Amino acid sequence: MKKIVHLSDLHFGRIDAGLVEPLVEAVNAAEPALVVVSGDLTQRARSHQFEEARAFLDRLPHPQVVVPGNHDVPLYDVVSRFARPLDKWRRFISEEVEPVHEDDEMVVAGLNTARSLTRKFGRVNEQQVAALRERLCRYPDGVLKVVVTHHPFDLPAGADEREIVGRAEMAMEALAACGADLLLAGHMHVSQTGHTAERYKIHGHSALFVQAGTATSTRGRGEANSFNLIRVRHPHIQVERRLWRPESGTFARGPAETFRHTPEEGWERLPEEVAAGITFDEGGTGLQPHIPS
Ligand SMILES: [Fe+2]
Ligand SMILES: [Fe+2]
Repeated sequence: MKKIVHLSDLHFGRIDAGLVEPLVEAVNAAEPALVVVSGDLTQRARSHQFEEARAFLDRLPHPQVVVPGNHDVPLYDVVSRFARPLDKWRRFISEEVEPVHEDDEMVVAGLNTARSLTRKFGRVNEQQVAALRERLCRYPDGVLKVVVTHHPFDLPAGADEREIVGRAEMAMEALAACGADLLLAGHMHVSQTGHTAERYKIHGHSALFVQAGTATSTRGRGEANSFNLIRVRHPHIQVERRLWRPESGTFARGPAETFRHTPEEGWERLPEEVAAGITFDEGGTGLQPHIPS
């Protein structure tokens, strides 16, 4: 069993500072095999905001797969925005804007969706998708194939359709051809899980998409600050939300959903009574206790 901590939309520069220590504590206590951060590390791509984000990442477990978001591209400095949009990212966060983690159970690939030309919306291009496809296709089906973007491949009900990553259909066709399993994203500041089959009608393929809420931003869109703890034990995945609880000053266990992969159906959500019988942790059950709000 492997655990992935999925954080998103940190927004250093506009954070609730009281959440940083509890978050560092909660992520380290989870002992993940990998930490994923799906973009918007800063509020306005300022150097001091990147420095704070860097210091935060340094306190979390490694390895890490961290991709940029639209807020990590300078907005007002027009020269930087168009000539060197991810300069500060490369200086403070990583030379790599599309990092990859590979081990014996999973391959986790970042895909940069942040662009200079649009303030808010993101997209991918054919070269990026071809490179990703080549990387994922090398692996057999037993290896979990995970793609990390900032802009999502699906949306919560009622959201502006333009928030979906541009050229999503083209990208999904390629990802489906290589059996992508799990798409991790952020940007909406709303937690969500679902199946790609509901939006993308690609025969014989259904990936899971998992959006994380914002871990530390003060703009929570009505949700508590949160992150996702994802447990992977082939052919099962469990997505558990960890929710900020001001009364206890901790990120407490929230609702969990368990999914099973079959060659015929792809990923399907398991009913609670079935999920309860699946063991992820030593001595634990598939459904982690849910602390009601
Ligand atoms: Fe954001
Ligand atoms: Fe964003």
